Amino acid sequence: MSYKLLTKPLSGEQIAIGPDVNSDQLMLALETSCDETAAAVVLNGRKVLSSVISSQIDIHQVYGGVVPEVAARQHLESINFVIDEALKKAGITINDVTAVSATLGPGLVGALLVGVSAAKAIAFAKNIPFIGVNHLKAHVCANYLDTELEPPFLCLLVSGGHTQLIYVKSYLDQHIIGQTVDDAAGEAYDKVARLLNYPYPGGPNIDKAAKNGNKKAYDLPISRVEGYNFSFSGLKTAVLRLLQKHRGDINSDDLSASFQEVVTEALLRKTLEASKEFNLNTLVLAGGVAANSGLRDKFFNLKDKYNVYAPPFAYCTDNAAMIGSAAYFVEGYYDLDVEVFSRG
Ligand code: KG4
Ligand code: ZN
Repeated sequence: MSYKLLTKPLSGEQIAIGPDVNSDQLMLALETSCDETAAAVVLNGRKVLSSVISSQIDIHQVYGGVVPEVAARQHLESINFVIDEALKKAGITINDVTAVSATLGPGLVGALLVGVSAAKAIAFAKNIPFIGVNHLKAHVCANYLDTELEPPFLCLLVSGGHTQLIYVKSYLDQHIIGQTVDDAAGEAYDKVARLLNYPYPGGPNIDKAAKNGNKKAYDLPISRVEGYNFSFSGLKTAVLRLLQKHRGDINSDDLSASFQEVVTEALLRKTLEASKEFNLNTLVLAGGVAANSGLRDKFFNLKDKYNVYAPPFAYCTDNAAMIGSAAYFVEGYYDLDVEVFSRG
């Protein structure tokens, strides 16, 4: 059976939540792990009734990256507004919500505390269950939103902090079968973007530049790592060496295209190898780098041989709708005294 028993904080009464429960669940979900303040209302883990995101990108851009203290303060300023908007857009009030969830981690502790404290306060005041969500599991669950996808499947999760190949056996049972041994794919994008003097966040800017470049212009290495693991720090160093050698006489569009080609090739090669060993013909993309057009093109080209799923752009990068889905399908932290955590 796929459901969880949750406790209402004031009455102690238990309610069941999950795909095997007959009654409808209206989840209010919050996400404040990094630089987006987000709230969403999700019906039964799949149907997004509203998804509101207030981005801090322009605030952090002047620093070239996210400043944790600034992020936390900004979340505090935006959170109530974002919650009100999400409820309004969904056409409901706080009294209609049956459970409330928020990202517990991994992420920036000060930032996480804002969303988690708001969610706990709502849970307590309204006597509805609180569910703490793992951000990475939520990225995977973004693929359940507005689709019929069901496990088992193989998920390539590529975000700013993580690169993982996950065998999702059932809603509740996820196994990491490979991961990066150094930089995450998104981190590699952001670091190479900085070398090329592109503004933060670098990933989308490299993606844009790559569209105008020749992917065969520069010869960059694909690192060989054991099993289904990945490595991207050698690639970043190779880009740095190339820039030093040519002393500014480099075509940034060509270098972006060449870099993107190698990253996407490395990611998909391992995914296909794993799909064969685990005999899985449903492949799923998740995380911020799943918004990358080069990766998506290659991935969707597999559709003749595999069932392929990737979230729409708005659910690839950080959002609260995916938190609402994970809270329904996978998560299991319910106590109001549960703490946030920084590393996954
Ligand atoms: O999942 P996400 O929004 O936040 C984390 O949980 O880390 O991922 C952010 C990462 C950043 O490194 C950003 O540069 C990258 O996703 N990213 C992209 C694209 N859009 C976002 N990387 C490559 N191409 C893109 N279009
Ligand atoms: Zn994320």
